[in-house]
Amino acid sequence: MFETKSGIFFVAGLAFFAFAFLSNALVPALMYRDVPEQTAEQVVNGNVLFQLEDLAQRYPEAFRTAWGDAPVEEAAAAEWYVKTGAEALREGRKIYVGEGCWHCHSQFVRPVSNESRRWGPVSESPEYQNELQRPVMFGTRRVGPDLSREGGRRSNDWHAVHFFRPTDLSPGSPMPEYPWLFDGAADRPNRRGLALLVYVQWLGSWLDSYPYYETYLPSDLKDVELPAAAAQ
Ligand code: HEC
Repeated sequence: MFETKSGIFFVAGLAFFAFAFLSNALVPALMYRDVPEQTAEQVVNGNVLFQLEDLAQRYPEAFRTAWGDAPVEEAAAAEWYVKTGAEALREGRKIYVGEGCWHCHSQFVRPVSNESRRWGPVSESPEYQNELQRPVMFGTRRVGPDLSREGGRRSNDWHAVHFFRPTDLSPGSPMPEYPWLFDGAADRPNRRGLALLVYVQWLGSWLDSYPYYETYLPSDLKDVELPAAAAQ
């Protein structure tokens, strides 16, 4: 076998494959096997609650039609926000997948080409250890920017107008319009539109670099003790 060049290349090919499998699959799987996978409820943090309350204030009718009213009593309200947030995140992610956003957007800041200067901290494996990353939305094409740190970068109504007609905010943008996420106008997102807004604002909400971090906990929830899962 080692008498011919092709034999050597064949063996080298197998060895490289084994090495790549070991370093890219086995080592990370073993390193993070003790990090439990989080549910959607567990990733609803203060920043997501802030965004939910913001949506409820900006689009009261749409929000009520989509998810109803939060209970008045404080502890019940906290529980309700977590439940509604998780529901919105699951639905928002489905829409992100269904609308093919991942054809044009990655969710992975790579440790090359100074990407962190443009998009924030390089992505780490534990960030993907939750239900909303099954399967992961790394993406391989970047027609638009990486979105893994998009949350909090822009306001909800910026995103709403942008989803309705991207060129209104970004002249010449090749991003498609998504009018079916609205009941007629950019200030009337429907349930699907609201869910996608929550999902996009969630991206990166677990990092300290999130612009609204902690200081912006929803006003009526400030003094409430959040369920342990949400207070991460
Ligand atoms: C055909 C490719 C394409 C598709 C599909 C696409 N986008 Fe975009 N997106 C872009 C481009 C290009 C930009 C940058 C120009 C702009 O702001 O419109 C962009 C910008 C964005 C931004 C703003 C990022 C920032 O802060 O500057 C967000 C958020 C976004 N897209 C979300 C989405 C979502 C959610 C979907 C699916 C519903 C989607 N995109 C589908 C190409 C695409």
